[in-house]
Amino acid sequence: MSTLSVPPVPVNPRDDAIQLHKAFKGFGCDTAAVIGILAHRDSMQRSYIQQEYQTMYSEDLLKRLTSELSGKLETAVLLWMHDPAGRDAVVLKQALTTDFISLETATEVICSRTSSQLQTVRQIYHSTFGTYLEQDIEYQATGDLQKILLACVTKPRYEGMEVDREMAAKDAKALYKAGEKKLGTDEKVFVQIFTERSPAHLVAVNTCYHDMYGGSLKKAIKSETSGLFERALLTILQCAQNPAKYFAKVLYNSMKGLGTNDTTLIRVIVTRTEIDMQYIKAEYYKKYKKTLNDAVHSETSGHYRTFLLSLLGPNH
Ligand SMILES: *[C@@H]1O[C@H](CO)[C@@H](O)[C@H](O)[C@H]1NC(C)=O
Repeated sequence: MSTLSVPPVPVNPRDDAIQLHKAFKGFGCDTAAVIGILAHRDSMQRSYIQQEYQTMYSEDLLKRLTSELSGKLETAVLLWMHDPAGRDAVVLKQALTTDFISLETATEVICSRTSSQLQTVRQIYHSTFGTYLEQDIEYQATGDLQKILLACVTKPRYEGMEVDREMAAKDAKALYKAGEKKLGTDEKVFVQIFTERSPAHLVAVNTCYHDMYGGSLKKAIKSETSGLFERALLTILQCAQNPAKYFAKVLYNSMKGLGTNDTTLIRVIVTRTEIDMQYIKAEYYKKYKKTLNDAVHSETSGHYRTFLLSLLGPNH
């Protein structure tokens, strides 16, 4: 469920474009006005505003925003302006091929999206950047991490709720044999089961694993694998079970301790606002006994804070 609040009566995108143009004009930018509009329009409305703006002023709204805004606010607003698949493509391109390489980010994005979302991201990635997502993964990642990321983006996965119990038990056994039962680990089996089975099936495998061998699959992954490969497996498992809980934790980690990882904070808030932010807020409060809004409030300031809190909606 989304936390976005939009006006009860939809505003004409043309009027929004005019108001934005006004906010840009003159000395300095009326940043509060820009946030007041853009942080309260859904994906479709933002796209119409961009079209109207282009038509009326023969200028690319994103380019104008880049020159009017700066710092973290600029990063957040620009990322927000994309539609979900386009945004993932931009995030992945940056994580895989620029000076800001982050295989951690690429792993989070690839392993937390559904198979059909990834198919769309892959197409947009190619049409926008002229390179294949698979190529960039191959170039940047190695070993088991490369194998699991490639499998995630190339193999279509069933997304329905039906589960074959017998098959789930067989998979649990295969994972046990490939991991805890033997010396060393057969990573291939983990990659295959985690990237070819549906989320609902993985949840069933997890239950079978526990029933059959006592320990949890999560613990097995932690003891048998390491680094970003471990992270990839855990992300796939956690997102099959409860994506909101997974993202609450990512947000918590981005703000814990001294300093804030704003890149992560921005990415997660902007990408989840229109999907499941209501649930993430609930999971956050349940686990950390503090509201996500309060946490974000204490880690940010100025217009940047206003923008993020606008996306998060009321504090409760
Ligand atoms: C922020 O998190 C990303 C992963 O999401 C990581 O790649 C990056 O190094 C972190 N930045 C800092 C400054 O710790």
